[in-house]
Amino acid sequence: MATPVMDKSQPEGGADATAEASPYITAVFRIRRFNPEVSDEAHWEDFRLEIDPKERVLDVLHKIKWELDGTLTFRRSCAHGICGSDAMRINGRNRLACKTLIKDISPEKPITVEPIKGLAVQKDLIVDMEPFFQAYRDVMPFLITKGNEPTRERLQSPEDRERFDDTTKCILCAACTSSCPVFWVDGQYFGPAAIVNAHRFIFDSRDEGGEQRLEVLNDRDGVWRCRTVFNCTEACPRGIQVTKAIQEVKRALITRRY
Ligand code: SF4
Ligand code: FES
Repeated sequence: MATPVMDKSQPEGGADATAEASPYITAVFRIRRFNPEVSDEAHWEDFRLEIDPKERVLDVLHKIKWELDGTLTFRRSCAHGICGSDAMRINGRNRLACKTLIKDISPEKPITVEPIKGLAVQKDLIVDMEPFFQAYRDVMPFLITKGNEPTRERLQSPEDRERFDDTTKCILCAACTSSCPVFWVDGQYFGPAAIVNAHRFIFDSRDEGGEQRLEVLNDRDGVWRCRTVFNCTEACPRGIQVTKAIQEVKRALITRRY
């Protein structure tokens, strides 16, 4: 569908108001639209607009929603890479819209934006995250201890803290799990994010629930489904070594040393 162009290429006050070249370019945002109240079929819709390449994809989605089509639906909250709510497929790759600059994604061609894969689409860019969070809950992502209550805090050496530092960075955006071909084929697989969050506690020296978590992940839908494709590591916006964490959990299952 063609949409009006928002032309910001001329500075206010006319072309002579400033000697600086306009930063604006014309870009096409090709967005996967789906509204189950209107049609069972999803379709692509084009939005042509003037944007500054230093803007983020999230800024442009806001611009489309606020100025061109108020029905466009997507999740976002913090807008600064912390809440994990705006993972989407941008130019065929899972990214956070709030951390993706237009200039980094070939704006001279149509920029495709679609929902992450492997989870049911509810509307436009919004998917049903419940299966993802169920897998997260299944690995018991909280400290498990058996008595030995400390009088003050539970102490831990810097070296022991470092052991699981990488996996503490997860923001549960689902970019990893929804980039995994095993998860696409069979959504029963726990997926990389759940394993990352199990890793965070299995390798925590203060935790005593490692055996329980390993047994959960020893399931037919657990870590052994991983085919070491590395999509998850590439997709993670936090730079977590996701595949390495999965390998460490596999090794812990074999050796029972962690
Ligand atoms: S491991 Fe990375 S990609 Fe996966 S949910 Fe956590 S932050 Fe997102
Ligand atoms: S909106 Fe919170 S991570 Fe992007």
